[in-house]
Amino acid sequence: MNIVVLCGGLSPERNVSLTTGAMVQGALVERGHHAVLADLFMGVELEDGPEAAFAAATEPIPVAAIDEAVPDLEAVKRSREGGTGIFGKNIIELCCHADVVFMALHGGDGENGRIQAAFDLLGIRYTGSGHLGSAVAMHKGMTKQAFLSDGILTPKGLRLKKGFDAAGICDAEGLSLPLVVKTCSGGSSIGVYIAKTEEEFENAVKGAFEYEEEIIIEEYIKGREITCGILGGKPLPPVEIIPKDGWYDYKNKYQPGMTVEICPAPLTAQEDAVVRQATADAFRSLHLEGYARMDFILTADGRPYCLEANTLPGMTPVSLIPQEAAAAGISYGELCEEIISLAFNKGE
Ligand SMILES: Nc1ncnc2c1ncn2[C@@H]1O[C@H](COP(=O)(O)OP(=O)(O)O)[C@@H](O)[C@H]1O
Ligand SMILES: [Mg+2]
Repeated sequence: MNIVVLCGGLSPERNVSLTTGAMVQGALVERGHHAVLADLFMGVELEDGPEAAFAAATEPIPVAAIDEAVPDLEAVKRSREGGTGIFGKNIIELCCHADVVFMALHGGDGENGRIQAAFDLLGIRYTGSGHLGSAVAMHKGMTKQAFLSDGILTPKGLRLKKGFDAAGICDAEGLSLPLVVKTCSGGSSIGVYIAKTEEEFENAVKGAFEYEEEIIIEEYIKGREITCGILGGKPLPPVEIIPKDGWYDYKNKYQPGMTVEICPAPLTAQEDAVVRQATADAFRSLHLEGYARMDFILTADGRPYCLEANTLPGMTPVSLIPQEAAAAGISYGELCEEIISLAFNKGE
């Protein structure tokens, strides 16, 4: 099959995406596909046309380690030649000639449905969720509304626009400390604050509004941090995440050795079943397709509160979905191929 593995882009998770992309490309060529690794924003050279690019794409591209620092996106923008908007030179032409595009993008455009909508209009087949599911899952306020209307357990909370009285509205809605304040469209725990005092709450609201005009405030749920992937409608074995110190913030997510991940999570059969059921329900509620990963807090009395859905979860060597797949007996290469085959069955 001729496949474009689309990575990079212009989100703060650009470097994670470059690693996901190289891993996926390597796994696909190993399984006999012609897979071109292409940076969405930087574009590709196509001197001899797209068919020649696919014909030549039989070797794995080396996987670079993820840089600890968030990339300098302004420098990336300045270094580009050619291209239109988010699409780098020749990207659309290359994707139009592929049998399928593997979406190895994370965060921002790439995960928020805009590229998916453009691809739908251009007739380009791609992996993962479509534009609507991607957009709803990217917005934590919309996610919460969908969950509430579909009866999916999620922390009680509200959306707040800049300029409104946060403390007054929380009082009126019966939300009391400790509270979690987050941006609606953030990720990687950036713009997420856990406030235990009134002062912390005020600073959290101020901090979150520095990122976005709309935030969510929700009750703090005490419990175990569990995440559960789903592939082709079937939930995978859940993972338990235990930060060695504090909560699952940016540092604990990406610095090696800061968190213990246990896969499969040591859950009772009953807990395992409710987490998997909640994962499948959340997937349906948000109109997701192909695969995804849901984040939960599981309380001591066995209630799984769904925090959010990740529609293009990481596929780096240390990412969670590949670990979950391995626990279900699915190798990394099989996982990539299954994600591709699901792209061919969309809407059926
Ligand atoms: N309501 C909550 N109660 C307890 N912890 C929370 C809550 N919301 C978020 N957290 C913590 O913050 C982390 C990030 O929040 P999440 O909603 O998953 O956003 P993202 O991962 O997109 O930044 C979670 O993994 C969890 O550790
Ligand atoms: Mg999360």
